[in-house]
Amino acid sequence: MKSENKSSNIKKSEVSIKNKSSFSDNETKVLVLETAGYPFNFGLLEGPNLEISDRVLFEQYAIDQWSGTRVKTGSYLFDQKIIPDFAFKILTAHPENSVIGENTSIVIVTNNEEKQDSVKRVKSNVFFDDVVGQENAKKKSKLIYKYLQDPEKFGMWAPKNVLFYGLPGTGKTMLAKALSNELDINLFLIKATSLIGDHVGDAASKVHDLYEAALKSAPSLIFIDEIDAIALHRSFQSLRGDVSEIVNSLLTEMDGINSNDGVVTIAATNNPSSIDFAIRSRFEEEIEFKLPDDNERREIIKLNLNTFPLKYDLDIDKLVKISKRMSGRDIKEKILKTALHNAIINDKEIVTMEDIYFALDINKYKKEEIRGMFE
Ligand SMILES: Nc1ncnc2c1ncn2[C@@H]1O[C@H](COP(=O)(O)OP(=O)(O)O)[C@@H](O)[C@H]1O
Ligand SMILES: [Mg+2]
Repeated sequence: MKSENKSSNIKKSEVSIKNKSSFSDNETKVLVLETAGYPFNFGLLEGPNLEISDRVLFEQYAIDQWSGTRVKTGSYLFDQKIIPDFAFKILTAHPENSVIGENTSIVIVTNNEEKQDSVKRVKSNVFFDDVVGQENAKKKSKLIYKYLQDPEKFGMWAPKNVLFYGLPGTGKTMLAKALSNELDINLFLIKATSLIGDHVGDAASKVHDLYEAALKSAPSLIFIDEIDAIALHRSFQSLRGDVSEIVNSLLTEMDGINSNDGVVTIAATNNPSSIDFAIRSRFEEEIEFKLPDDNERREIIKLNLNTFPLKYDLDIDKLVKISKRMSGRDIKEKILKTALHNAIINDKEIVTMEDIYFALDINKYKKEEIRGMFE
């Protein structure tokens, strides 16, 4: 039913050149294909979720119909037999520009396998005490800790969905890692943008896989980073209509988690106001991550200096002053790390304020912005 009108619309010759007579010494040795779906979105039908049940048989089937086709990485092959016009993307053709023949090994990677990859479990060695400040967030994390230790105990009063928000580099990811590390449970850490797929249904099945994996290994923690990115992702929204598929599937999966399942979702954003309201209202609490104050910066500086591989002779008071309005990450990555590296490059044995000033300079902190630097 779907094939007639579609096949007339594709110029297959643009994609792959049939060249039956001239293959022999230039035969493709290995061809890695990935299912790519249809070139058009019909609205009526979704691309089939291809499951290759017999890889040897698929290889023979593929050779039969594509024998003589010249292939190169990045181009497409279209099925002409069972699911006409269904596309396969060539992930690797070895050698390039070779021609499929009897001896070609064809390996197929389905999107299902890809999805598994996007659900990542993360191990870390960060502890609550490593996170400086953010007392509200730590209190909430303590509650989540207690819940995940004993989900039954909470009855219908379980914490489920929490939103961490605040400037980048203030410890949102770090705290989620600490929470899962302290509990020794699985952390499913996922960037919201990685949920966006190429085809209708991709996001829904990725979100589904994520929750399924988390449920299977409960108690567990799901951390969805940069959740605003999917609300902001214009191209995605305009393709899929106003309410994106991803928002709907997240809502569905979040609703599917029951009180005693032992799965908590923490989402993080720098910009809560840009989040789709339907999602935002589903979080029971929004917790702000603030920039560190003077004392907190002092602590962050000290904790990081403790792990320095070189000796240092630094004016900590001054460091506290010049790092005003910097996040924990900026202090670590832009100031301390750059300074340390500068000292190492210059064969110094001691890191000094000179290296700190070098770091400020190279990271383009303007002198007038850094109050107290030259006091
Ligand atoms: N509150 C904090 N206490 C200690 N270190 C911090 C803090 N905030 C950020 N850092 C440092 O910056 C790094 C990046 O922080 P991260 O948690 O990824 O920030 P976010 O997720 O809020 O963007 C951390 O790994 C840590 O080294
Ligand atoms: Mg982060």
